[in-house]
Amino acid sequence: MRVSDKDLLAHHIIPVVVLEDAADAAPLAAALTAGGLPVAEVTFRTAAAAESIAAMAKHPDMIVGAGTVITADQLDTAADAGASFIVSPGLNAAVVKRARERDLLVLPGAVTPSEIMATLDLGLTLCKFFPAATFGGPGALKSLGAPFRQVRFVPTGGVSAENLPEYLTLPNVAAVGGSWMVKPSLISAGDFDSVTRLTTEAVAAAAAARK
Ligand code: 3PG
Repeated sequence: MRVSDKDLLAHHIIPVVVLEDAADAAPLAAALTAGGLPVAEVTFRTAAAAESIAAMAKHPDMIVGAGTVITADQLDTAADAGASFIVSPGLNAAVVKRARERDLLVLPGAVTPSEIMATLDLGLTLCKFFPAATFGGPGALKSLGAPFRQVRFVPTGGVSAENLPEYLTLPNVAAVGGSWMVKPSLISAGDFDSVTRLTTEAVAAAAAARK
């Protein structure tokens, strides 16, 4: 089922999750929800991605999407597993087309003016900005805001609890993506209490930055 961009971006943070074992998906959904952030982008970087999406989507409050979707076939797998939004590191017209066919919200990655213009050409105004820190961080986003007033970004890659306010105080940043509250080391250690604590802190920091 498709999620609206308003619901997806409501907390201004999208946790980027890499799960090696789908058995961790349900406790992770519970930990994120307990921290006030019922959202997860489950990346297609592991064999457990589709099963993890299906398990997380069973949580009644969770908004679960797929990340690192680089082909239309992967998008179909994600949609079949129950993903309600799609994130891609770059722009691929076939992925965007398939997302529309499957009625899914899609956030392609775009970091250069030409990529942003190609995204606009496809009728989209919400982009992932990845890898954010490497491509100029908040300074680059500020500069891109001048010619591209209609575009909102979700910077991801190198975002942390510390630098989150630098991004979220920019008017063209709709949300940030990041893995700092769902680090693979915490998940493999079964330390879901720390996930909830870091998530609670992240949600509070985001709310303070958007005031
Ligand atoms: C992503 O896939 O979007 C990033 O790898 C997440 O970046 P981070 O680990 O630096 O938060």
